[in-house]
Amino acid sequence: MPAGHLYVARRLTDTVMDELPALGLELTVGEVAPPSPERMLADIVGAAAAIVTLTERIDAAFFDAAGPQLRVVANVAVGFDNIDLAEAKRHGVVITNTPGVLDEATADHTLAMLLAITRRVVEADRFARSGEPWIWGPTMLVGLDISAGATLGIIGLGRIGRAVARRAQAFGMRVIASHPRLQVGTQLDKVEIVDQAELLATSDVVTLHVPLRPDTRHLIDADALASMKPGAYLLNAARGGIVDETALIAALRSGHLAGAALDTFEGEPVINPALRELDNVVLQPHIGSAGGTTRDNMCQLAVRNVARVLAGEPPETPVPLP
Ligand code: DGY
Repeated sequence: MPAGHLYVARRLTDTVMDELPALGLELTVGEVAPPSPERMLADIVGAAAAIVTLTERIDAAFFDAAGPQLRVVANVAVGFDNIDLAEAKRHGVVITNTPGVLDEATADHTLAMLLAITRRVVEADRFARSGEPWIWGPTMLVGLDISAGATLGIIGLGRIGRAVARRAQAFGMRVIASHPRLQVGTQLDKVEIVDQAELLATSDVVTLHVPLRPDTRHLIDADALASMKPGAYLLNAARGGIVDETALIAALRSGHLAGAALDTFEGEPVINPALRELDNVVLQPHIGSAGGTTRDNMCQLAVRNVARVLAGEPPETPVPLP
């Protein structure tokens, strides 16, 4: 084993915390909450490996503080927009993520959001708890019949997008998708591939499953929102920065969009107060992958990646460096 400890920025799941000593490394483990930047820069000094989460910014200061013995940073997330890959490359550090193990859980939660916003589940719950007198009525809290052939447009038909498609098809939705590497006019898993303009113009519900990168930041901006079908819904379980939240709030206020369900936010963990005031939104605190077994699997994959790199083997799930 190389010199240096294993820095674990935040407590992982109980199962995986119990497994960590078997690595045979000295451990420096943070708290349940994210470390302050100062704490992290102090704790990373001299580490051979680090396990971090999407709440930590892994940048030049992190790599410089760690020192030249740092071999690998394993992110407990499929997304890696919190990591400066150019700096990782410059410092010769392997970066890994956790693709694959969270697809089904994230797709489950996306369907939960889809149902919650289109059938007004959370709004209805608020109403039922309010104590206001009510009686069944033909027009009370009606929403969208997703099973009557409503169209779901998936932006990004990767692993999670395809898992969402399978679920939506089982609900009787027509599913279309746009994806940079898939040919418009073809089909994948009975999903029609269309261009993004057609997807936005024809979908009753649009769901985002792309990574946050410079080219996807504000992919859904004021123009994209204006081009959506009036009365459509937007779901975002990817990253907050993909949507221009100010423009989204305007589209929700004007009624151009019927609603939005968001699991991620531009200023996360701060949620724009204007969003919190709207009735036609479902807000979730980034829990897309929060299944118990899924979280164990994500943490275990991160640990296996660390063990492999420290043993001189290639990691299972490396992030390609630029
Ligand atoms: C990820 O893995 O990127 C998710 O956002 C965490 O659930």
